[in-house]
Amino acid sequence: MRLVNINYVEEGSILARPIRDSSGRILLVEGITLTRNFLIKLKDLGYDLLFIQDERFKDVEINDAISDKTKELAYKAICSVTTTLEKDQNSAIDMDVVHNAVVNILDDLMYSFDILSNLTDIMGYDKYTFHHSVNTTVLALVLGMGIGYNESNLLELGMGVLMHDIGKTNVPKEILNKKGSLTKEEFMEIKKHTIYGYENIRRNRDFSILSAHVALQHHEKWGGEGYPRGLKGTEIHEFGRIAAIADVYDALSNKRPYRNALQPYQAYEYILAQSGFQFDPKIVKAFIRLVAVYPTGTGVSLSNGLRGNVIRQNTTLPTRPVVRVIFDGNEPLDNYVDYDLSKHLSLMITKVEDI
Ligand SMILES: [Fe+2]
Repeated sequence: MRLVNINYVEEGSILARPIRDSSGRILLVEGITLTRNFLIKLKDLGYDLLFIQDERFKDVEINDAISDKTKELAYKAICSVTTTLEKDQNSAIDMDVVHNAVVNILDDLMYSFDILSNLTDIMGYDKYTFHHSVNTTVLALVLGMGIGYNESNLLELGMGVLMHDIGKTNVPKEILNKKGSLTKEEFMEIKKHTIYGYENIRRNRDFSILSAHVALQHHEKWGGEGYPRGLKGTEIHEFGRIAAIADVYDALSNKRPYRNALQPYQAYEYILAQSGFQFDPKIVKAFIRLVAVYPTGTGVSLSNGLRGNVIRQNTTLPTRPVVRVIFDGNEPLDNYVDYDLSKHLSLMITKVEDI
């Protein structure tokens, strides 16, 4: 299979993976022929990348870090907690639901820990916050694993990250969904979602206080310019420092109605550039080791003019994956050629592009 920008998907192409809506329901099944109408509808829903069958990429597997079933479970956990809190702001969060969702994510990650090439979701515009919380949790747990956390640390971290934005249920919807710029007072109110989240989690005393601190501290910055308390460096709990990186990386990599998504390599560069400013350098180091700069499937141009898609990662050299070349400039090649950039050191990726 190959990952293709929807604008370049030809009518009659075969879908290589099912497309799901925000609640996990299948919109289009794997193997279906994509008609013009399907493509127009998917574009309207905000889907911009599709997995397409391609004979030249028959042997290429693109694995998600967690299964669709696990994603759906985590998604449902956030939905149910949110619905309960929206009905009654003083209700306690159901710890079992959150615990269960994080255990499942951890199980999937332990099983596929070396497959970190696909942390970004293929999704439309819908239900951003819920998906964002799931993706942020996956990345935070990957970072936690990378710096050697044991299972109980990972559970505490994961449960906090899954609930990190739960305080938004206390912020008036008209402020949260306001289009256009916010007044100073409105922005102050949005910032309070960190404190509300902490309080929501603390209402159930079975939750670890450290999980509650993830909600409280995920907008603090290493340099001290964050909120709500402007903590600096190691004054911020390590869980908060991990959540900050995961939160920003996923937010930048996703498309929002008001801006396009950054390419994964651009979001990656942002995290690196903010090392020591916004983010803890130690966690950024783990991030560099664990997150693919050019996720498998990415279309790239090489410095010799050849173009193709990333088919495999080199874990020791994250900037130099294996690329399957299918074009020379704009001319399709008769046969594809694989370039392992860890061996062809004079070749560089010059551009990330949709092909
Ligand atoms: Fe937040």
